[in-house]
Amino acid sequence: MAEMHRLNRWMVRVRTETRARRALRVLDGHLPLSSASRVLELGSGGGGMVALLEERLHPARLVGTDYDPVQVEAVRRFLMTRWSRIPDRVEVRAADALHLPFESAEFDAVFAMMMLHHVEAHHFDYRERPAALAEIRRVLRPAGVLVYSEFSRRPEVRRTLGALGFSPLYLRSGWRVDLAIYRTPGGPAESLGVPRLGDPRVPPPFPVAR
Ligand SMILES: C[S@@+](CC[C@H](N)C(=O)[O-])C[C@H]1O[C@@H](n2cnc3c(N)ncnc32)[C@H](O)[C@@H]1O
Repeated sequence: MAEMHRLNRWMVRVRTETRARRALRVLDGHLPLSSASRVLELGSGGGGMVALLEERLHPARLVGTDYDPVQVEAVRRFLMTRWSRIPDRVEVRAADALHLPFESAEFDAVFAMMMLHHVEAHHFDYRERPAALAEIRRVLRPAGVLVYSEFSRRPEVRRTLGALGFSPLYLRSGWRVDLAIYRTPGGPAESLGVPRLGDPRVPPPFPVAR
């Protein structure tokens, strides 16, 4: 497993909010989340996604995690600077995606933005990722969602998700990066209030700044 080099840490922290904002803009209208959702982020990095999810969604529970304690502190500092205090519903803590310190089915949604390749010793390996994806599956409730972006070994990630019983709700496979929402098996999508893709009548689940 890779601990990040100081230069990489710096790169993760700069523009953390811009990256998260861009992803949410694309996913807007497809995320089956509400203020009742319990949301976990893996590899929070600079904290941009945690900040935006809290400000736009106010989920019932929001846990931002990172394997690297230096990043965990960076997320805390980022949120404290932004909000002056971190609300009780928001938790920032260390967690390794390969051994998540959470109960089974504890979350409605897991975010893993540009972090799945980090569980590998080398970013293009594919030895540890199936175990990390299985851990994500474990902590998600039935009909819960994994939201991820990834550039490395993308077809294998999709295949592993399929083998674990996930099905795609939204997938944008670009030139370099997949941005996707995958759902665990459970009740019908409609019962979650999942917007049908491309249905212009479905309002976005929460406002996303343009
Ligand atoms: C490229 S950064 C992405 C940060 C953020 N998600 C973003 O999109 O800007 C990857 C993050 O994953 C973290 N990470 C690496 N290995 C991890 C692991 N096994 N479990 C959890 N987080 C990990 C790193 O410390 C780093 O903060």
